[in-house]
Amino acid sequence: MYFQALCKVLMILCVLVSSSRALEADAENVPCDITIQDSSNLTLNCSRRNIDEIPEKWPETLNNVDKDGHVLITFFNNTISNVSQIPAVPGKRVAISFKSNEIVDIEDDAFSNIERLVYLDLSNNYISGEVLRSEIFQGRYIDGIYGSIALETLNLGHNDIHSLDRYLFQYTPNLTRLYLNNNPIEILDHVTLLALSSAVNLQVLDLAKTDINSIPLDAFKGLTKLQQVDLSDNGFVTVPESLSLVGGSLKYLTFNNNPINQLNDDSFVGLTNLIELEVGENDYLEEVKSSTFSPLKNLRVLHLCHNRNLRYISHKAFLGLKDKWTLKEVYLDDNYLSELSPDLMPWNKLEILGMTGNNWLCNCELANIVTDQGAGAKFQIGEIPFCAAPMRLSGAYITNITLPYCPTLNSEPKNTRGFSLSNLKPKHILYSILAVALIACLGMLLGLLVNAVKSFYNKKIKSQPIRYININSDTSFA
Ligand SMILES: *[C@@H]1O[C@H](CO)[C@@H](O)[C@H](O)[C@H]1NC(C)=O
Ligand SMILES: *[C@@H]1O[C@H](CO)[C@@H](O)[C@H](O)[C@H]1NC(C)=O
Ligand SMILES: *[C@@H]1O[C@H](CO)[C@@H](O)[C@H](O)[C@H]1NC(C)=O
Ligand SMILES: *[C@@H]1O[C@H](CO)[C@@H](O)[C@H](O)[C@H]1NC(C)=O
Ligand SMILES: *[C@@H]1O[C@H](CO)[C@@H](O)[C@H](O)[C@H]1NC(C)=O
Ligand SMILES: *[C@@H]1O[C@H](CO)[C@@H](O)[C@H](O)[C@H]1NC(C)=O
Repeated sequence: MYFQALCKVLMILCVLVSSSRALEADAENVPCDITIQDSSNLTLNCSRRNIDEIPEKWPETLNNVDKDGHVLITFFNNTISNVSQIPAVPGKRVAISFKSNEIVDIEDDAFSNIERLVYLDLSNNYISGEVLRSEIFQGRYIDGIYGSIALETLNLGHNDIHSLDRYLFQYTPNLTRLYLNNNPIEILDHVTLLALSSAVNLQVLDLAKTDINSIPLDAFKGLTKLQQVDLSDNGFVTVPESLSLVGGSLKYLTFNNNPINQLNDDSFVGLTNLIELEVGENDYLEEVKSSTFSPLKNLRVLHLCHNRNLRYISHKAFLGLKDKWTLKEVYLDDNYLSELSPDLMPWNKLEILGMTGNNWLCNCELANIVTDQGAGAKFQIGEIPFCAAPMRLSGAYITNITLPYCPTLNSEPKNTRGFSLSNLKPKHILYSILAVALIACLGMLLGLLVNAVKSFYNKKIKSQPIRYININSDTSFA
């Protein structure tokens, strides 16, 4: 009797304690906000709520979403450390973000209840390569095999990944966008490359700030749909040749902040389908050489900005592109340029031109580009560049200057810059020699002629030698 009573009291106590615990937890964790745009579009906002584990079930409203609906669930900026199996989410396209948590582990089958998970953001956590096993992306287990999940976008940026498991993408056949930026990869090793090449539907690959300085030649083999690559903030001293393997599909290349010293005719070999190129913040870049952009037969937008030591662009940088000109926007802002050649490009075919933040020498060539060739009309509002030199024009808008003494430059290629012996063709040397020989001959003939005239004159006028020498002033006679 007494024992039973004690048990009851204990039980009640237990319940009381645990329920008060639960209440405490609830008070701390503000419930997630549900935003319903319409019956087929719902957002569950669990951001910044001190959540430290995956909830065991979702609010009832979420389970009422249509099977064709779109659902976004965000746990941005909480303290989740272990991604356990996530409860089922209805809808046709499901996006989940765990951005900025403290994730160190992910369970097998974590996403197997959400076959329609198309977007997963795991960025800004503490995930290592070892945690990223193929099992975490397993779909439903049916008839002894694991199915796939629909994942299209996977953000693994800002984690602690050195290497990827070769089978990581085994259950994600539709993976289209992969962000690996800001991870200490350092070397794209054999297994990482096997993992990448298994993601045959990849269109976007972000390898920015991964401490890599090379990409093995066949790294992108098989990635025939790769359209966009970001290699910024790495240790590349040249643009990796391996890109040419995906030249048939690559449309966007970002190559900022790498220690390259020059761009030349090897830099973009094979990238015939590139539409947009960005090469900025490369502090060591000094020169863009002849034919650098020649392979880029479909380029529409070129960003060549913030390269603070870039002082020279060869007048032949776009060699061979002028007949079928595709560039619409060219941004050359914030470099260290002072001159450009009038025949660098057909300036009037551009739609937008950016030239601010350089050291422009306002000479006749610049006036030709800006005024005669109409480049001045392509600057955006508030983006008119200034002259840095000559002193007289320093600070004036380059669209404002008039240089009355300028010759009318024709648009024939003029070799005014970058002239060196190696530029001389044998033909030129031959012409030069002939010219020198001709001048020498003329000189000799002239000499002979003068001598002949002299002797003739001397003979005739010898009889009256008159010398007008002022002896007083000529000290040599003293
Ligand atoms: C989600 O909730 C947090 C905290 O209440 C708020 O700061 C944030 O703006 C919300 N985000 C969205 C997309 O509604
Ligand atoms: C939800 O609806 C809004 C407004 O109608 C739209 O902007 C947004 O893209 C939709 N989201 C999804 C995931 O469909
Ligand atoms: C997350 O929230 C904390 C405060 O709770 C804040 O200090 C931190 O900057 C936030 N992180 C991000 C990435 O917003
Ligand atoms: C994460 O949870 C799983 C399952 O509960 C467990 O096996 C694993 O050890 C946990 N990982 C960490 C780092 O706590
Ligand atoms: C991959 O995409 C195709 C085409 O959109 C779709 O039919 C297929 O179901 C998707 N695969 C998975 C595993 O969801
Ligand atoms: C441009 O020219 C106008 C009129 O000629 C002048 O008032 C203006 O100060 C000039 N601006 C600059 C920045 O050169």
